[in-house]
Amino acid sequence: MPTEATPSSPEANAGQRRYWSERAGPHWVERQNVFDTMLAPHGRALLDVLQPMRGERVLDVGCGFGTTALDVARSVGDEGGVHGVDLSSAMVERARERADAAGLGNATFQVGDAQVDPLAPHTPYDAATSRFGVMFFDNPVAAFTNVRAAVRPGGRLGFVCWQGAAANPFFTIGARVLLPALLEPPPSPDPSAPGPLAFADPERVRRVLAASGWSDIAVDGRKLPVRFVGDSDVAMATALDQLMSSDLGRIAARQLDSRRLAEVIEAACGELDQNRVDDGIQFDSAIWVVSATN
Ligand SMILES: C[S@@+](CC[C@H](N)C(=O)[O-])C[C@H]1O[C@@H](n2cnc3c(N)ncnc32)[C@H](O)[C@@H]1O
Repeated sequence: MPTEATPSSPEANAGQRRYWSERAGPHWVERQNVFDTMLAPHGRALLDVLQPMRGERVLDVGCGFGTTALDVARSVGDEGGVHGVDLSSAMVERARERADAAGLGNATFQVGDAQVDPLAPHTPYDAATSRFGVMFFDNPVAAFTNVRAAVRPGGRLGFVCWQGAAANPFFTIGARVLLPALLEPPPSPDPSAPGPLAFADPERVRRVLAASGWSDIAVDGRKLPVRFVGDSDVAMATALDQLMSSDLGRIAARQLDSRRLAEVIEAACGELDQNRVDDGIQFDSAIWVVSATN
């Protein structure tokens, strides 16, 4: 595993590129509404700290299907612009379709790697942002240095990332319910390996940003709900689909016979049931809202 100081290689992020291009990107695009509902409060917390202003040029790192970029495009108006970069062509294609449908000609998108690729066309940007798109770099210092090089002196960085698994109980249902049933459990992941929880340690976030040349670094904790909405059957099916299409869910479906699989699914439904609210299923979640200045 590269240290935080190793230079990027031409093979940078090959595993994540494959994962987001072949599997996760198409999965997210298919479930765009589910993810946007789950992550709406987190996106609002991000925009509160970023405060994009009319006329500004903003870079959206790991823009996915473009939700944050489109919100920013509305705030900066035609005098400004937003440019999203993402590894997954399925995600970028959906982001472009959404910008076209919304008549947002000031939003442009690029299939690329924010760690190594030039981040034209609006350089230097007034700000760079990301909703959960910056935890997947194999060399975070190289990535945040590359992003900073595209931002003007005095420009802002604002992103959100997840705190640890214990503070995000929806992430750990799989470990509680599916993992004990597996015939061959996968090895425990390295907590700092590229992945959704790679920035769980706020000191690591501060170290990475400082080593990348950012200053005025602030890492603030927020607790927000993650919600699956709909009547009881819809919300349950949606939450269960998310669980069973996770890595552990796929391994369980491969390794377990149908009787054992039905038992673990029933146990998972029992846990989801305990999180019912009036209009669906809701879990606590905890994020870091991170800001810095170039
Ligand atoms: C968890 S998704 C978040 C997507 C989007 N920001 C949202 O909130 O809907 C993470 C995104 O980061 C992208 N990503 C991961 N590593 C990247 C990299 N090195 N360069 C550009 N995008 C990357 C993935 O392709 C994926 O679309």
